[in-house]
Amino acid sequence: MQISIESSSVDHVETDALAVICFETEETAEPQVGNAPAPNSPHASDPDLAAQSGWLAELRTSGEFTGKLYEYAILHRPEGLAAKRLVVIGGGKRPKFSDVELRRVAGVLVRSLKSKGVRTIVLQLEKSAERNEVVAVTEGAILGGWEADKYKSEPKKTPKQIDEFIISIPGTDAGELSEAVERGQILAEAQNFTRDLVNEPANKLTPAALAEAAKSVASEFGLEYKVLDGAAMAELGMGALLGVAQGSTNPPFLITLAYRPARTEACDHLALVGKGVTFDTGGISIKPCDGMEKMKYDMAGAAGIIGAMRAIAQLKPAIPVTGYAPLVENMINGNAQRPGDIVTALSGKTIEVLNTDAEGRLILADALTYANRNGATHIVDAATLTGAIGIALGHYNMGAFTNDEAFLQRFLAAAKIAGEKAWQMPMDEDYKEYLKSAFADLPNIGVRYGGSITAAWFLREFADPTPWIHLDIASTAWLDEAKGWLSKGPTGVAVRSFVELALDWNGQS
Ligand code: BES
Ligand code: ZN
Ligand code: ZN
Repeated sequence: MQISIESSSVDHVETDALAVICFETEETAEPQVGNAPAPNSPHASDPDLAAQSGWLAELRTSGEFTGKLYEYAILHRPEGLAAKRLVVIGGGKRPKFSDVELRRVAGVLVRSLKSKGVRTIVLQLEKSAERNEVVAVTEGAILGGWEADKYKSEPKKTPKQIDEFIISIPGTDAGELSEAVERGQILAEAQNFTRDLVNEPANKLTPAALAEAAKSVASEFGLEYKVLDGAAMAELGMGALLGVAQGSTNPPFLITLAYRPARTEACDHLALVGKGVTFDTGGISIKPCDGMEKMKYDMAGAAGIIGAMRAIAQLKPAIPVTGYAPLVENMINGNAQRPGDIVTALSGKTIEVLNTDAEGRLILADALTYANRNGATHIVDAATLTGAIGIALGHYNMGAFTNDEAFLQRFLAAAKIAGEKAWQMPMDEDYKEYLKSAFADLPNIGVRYGGSITAAWFLREFADPTPWIHLDIASTAWLDEAKGWLSKGPTGVAVRSFVELALDWNGQS
């Protein structure tokens, strides 16, 4: 999809669809009895384009278009415009409209119009639109264009996609905003790259294939790539990771993607660590078959790290960043790990594996120790770690855990700029009580309650004392039902937040 800025009047632009955002009128937002404005009068905030024909006022009066968020109406052959269609799209209540909604509006336009044969879209923004709005629209349009149709024969014959998306800002300096388009493009393409990886079925995307994908990113975008195979991990003593891998005929890998800025005064070194279980059967503590097919997305953390490193290589933050991804398949063969097995992690701690389905924390334990040994001063991990996080937070917020409050606040600020939601979860020492093993230093599960918190405490045992944030993305990395702005399937969550965190780094520890 080609994205550009247009600063001249859109009246004469030939496009399949010219879109304008219209907000809820006050009377629809808060009905007033006895004092309602005259019907048919255009709302003061309606853009001229939409208001001039009286069409919008008619739609508003009839109740067909109220300005509700993401609602839209299409007028064909609009008078006085070269566009084939005029699309009004709802912005909801104006004071609540932010970059988050704007990003989604762009996505809704792309997703809904591409199925109607539209190939080119112009979205008109207000004169005052700024850089962050251009980034958001660019991201929303590209994210909205992604479909999980790689393995469908039909869409390839008749591709339904938007070829050109023009952001119209009357009177703006288009040159100045082109950097914003480029940034949005890099971020959204990285996120879509992550979604492509996450959507791959586990018969295609083995640990080896995911390592290859990381290697290609490294050579295409200029990152250092390093890989440890099973033998190298055994030599180092990564017993926790290897215990999970031993039940699969597909061998494990631990990959490293390193970005080094040309010059840096910072002594900080950011490590991003992602869970890469290419399929999670649960192991001997096997999962129920209902929904097990979704466990191909148990590598969304690793894919998110690879996607983030792809964007970081292009946007070049001032801080060194290293991405780590332990890649395994949690399967069941004659050599599979058993409940009750005791493994020795790279850190030297012994772990009693009470449940082989709590495998993500085992592979992350060794990856966190490895990141620490390789000079990380700050670590963020992302993992589809627990079903419990979905019970706690639903599908809208990643769970965020930390051993360093100030670091988390910095991450949350970055996530806000990126337009992603994370919610801080408790890490009181009390919860640590749940992690007691009679036979080893620690068990890999706690009690049923607070499952995402005990999982985080387990990881913390391997991250401390380095400032660390754990993101549980189990309930946010996959959409079960399509949204107007995003298709069903992988979301690519956390990619934009990671990149924003690295870009906003200004040396403070
Ligand atoms: N991969 C799962 C977590 C998961 C659940 C991801 C749902 C995506 C959607 C993880 O390895 C797991 O199985 N966790 C167990 C932990 C339990 C055994 C303590 C869980 O959440 O049930
Ligand atoms: Zn599991
Ligand atoms: Zn898992």
